[in-house]
Amino acid sequence: MKKTIIFILLLMQGITLVAEESNISIIPKPNSIQLSKGFFEFNENTKLYLSNDLAELKTVSSFFSELFTKSSGIKFHETDKKPANNYVGLIIDHTLEADYYELSVKSNRIIIRANNPKGIFWGIQSLRQLLPVEVESSSMRTDVKWTVPNVEVKDQPRFGYRGLMLDVARYFYSVDEIKKLIDIMALYKLNNFHWHLTDDQGWRIEIKKYPLLTEVGSWRRETLVGKFPKGTSEKERKYDCIPHAGFYTQEQIKEVIEYADKRFITVIPEIEMPGHATAALASYPEYGCTGGPYQVATKWGVHNDVFCPKETTFEFLENILQEVIDLFPGKYIHIGGDECPKVRWKNCVHCQNLIKSKELADEKELQSYFIGRISSFLESKGRKMIGWDEILEGGLAKGATVMSWRGTEGGISAAMLGNDVIMTPRQYCYFDYYQSKDKSEPLAIGGFVPVDKVYNYNPIPKELPVKFSKHIIGVQANLWTEFIADFDKVQYMLLPRLLAMAEVQWTCEENKNYTDFLLRAEQHKKRLDILELNYARHIFE
Ligand code: ACM
Ligand code: ZN
Repeated sequence: MKKTIIFILLLMQGITLVAEESNISIIPKPNSIQLSKGFFEFNENTKLYLSNDLAELKTVSSFFSELFTKSSGIKFHETDKKPANNYVGLIIDHTLEADYYELSVKSNRIIIRANNPKGIFWGIQSLRQLLPVEVESSSMRTDVKWTVPNVEVKDQPRFGYRGLMLDVARYFYSVDEIKKLIDIMALYKLNNFHWHLTDDQGWRIEIKKYPLLTEVGSWRRETLVGKFPKGTSEKERKYDCIPHAGFYTQEQIKEVIEYADKRFITVIPEIEMPGHATAALASYPEYGCTGGPYQVATKWGVHNDVFCPKETTFEFLENILQEVIDLFPGKYIHIGGDECPKVRWKNCVHCQNLIKSKELADEKELQSYFIGRISSFLESKGRKMIGWDEILEGGLAKGATVMSWRGTEGGISAAMLGNDVIMTPRQYCYFDYYQSKDKSEPLAIGGFVPVDKVYNYNPIPKELPVKFSKHIIGVQANLWTEFIADFDKVQYMLLPRLLAMAEVQWTCEENKNYTDFLLRAEQHKKRLDILELNYARHIFE
């Protein structure tokens, strides 16, 4: 029924789909797809030809062989000599643009061509999506013909930064679950995993110099149950009486980074400051304004106890960041910067003296001073700072990249100042918001971000003068987890919205069409089923 309506809509929109083209369901939609008659069929003699002995290219070819062999049982013979026919060729071609790839399927061979192994990897994701959905199966399928339609794909992303953030502070997820998330990102060509590692309710990264951060900060006594309206008294609130704990050792973090790296995904750590610091202060109370005692937060919201900008606090934070820098090789370090209440600073002798001695106007400028110092530290180590859009308050640090979350205004202001911006406005990119108004929908934080709203988001604001649009370097979906206690629900909140987000991140505006997306998503539903992922069904009903 629904499919018939969609088809009629497509006809009404004047989109002429060749019968076979409807079988092509690549998400995110490539720039250009030319379909022709015929197909390539894999068999026991199909070879994998590598044009180059780069280690990274071998990693990419192994990714494809592992994926294909486990489901088809067909083992490739790898060669560095170009076979006459019946092969998949992975060809590095330095004349091509850095992010561009081509995928050419003819009856006698498949060729993926790109400037570098990263482009080849994206070509493989497209090839994967042209193969029967059973390629996702974790066991051998003998009932499938392993064919790919003859096609020429020419493709490159719209945005260089295509992100997903997961909050592991409110609830902890295992290394295996994080890897599963990275696998989903790779399938849809996302390339930045933003790992929100610290917050009021938990500190989740081992720091060798400060063991109490995990001994004390990685567990909370209990957790508030459900949601209560603002103003509900403490007496009326319910807690679950169940301790919640977890952190990643530095070894586990390296394992995740390496896993992501093989999928051309950069891991960006977020260490929150000066606000959202209760778990850190519970561990080391001397870095707060009052000296504590503090306890790891057991309820959500914005907490008043924040880092006090003492010299010893900067030393503490820089030592932490140094270990973070040593672990994470990517250029970006995220330092939070959002939702920092000023009440403690207003009542702290040290903070008030600092405002006077630095000739700052107020606590907003004190926040800017705080962030500026951390930014300079990161720059001195050759890294770039990312912060939420509150880092604009009191003056934006030069060279800082802004994540615009409260809307698009922060992003617009930052871009016009010449700073880079990652768009993640909550109205379109917050996957902790409801995706349906069904009464039966599982508890979410609020809001309403259905799949079509995500899909139709254009990250380049109309209000932004064109000459600044180059500063919008990308888009990101954020998954805060106050109401997401397990990984099953993480998947439910992500899928299928992440597929829509992937298209916002990758596909040029001219090629986006929600009705066409829905048809392709229908095919991906089968893929998600075989991958045993949990997803919301609203767009498939
Ligand atoms: C945020 O949602 N507080 C960045
Ligand atoms: Zn203070």
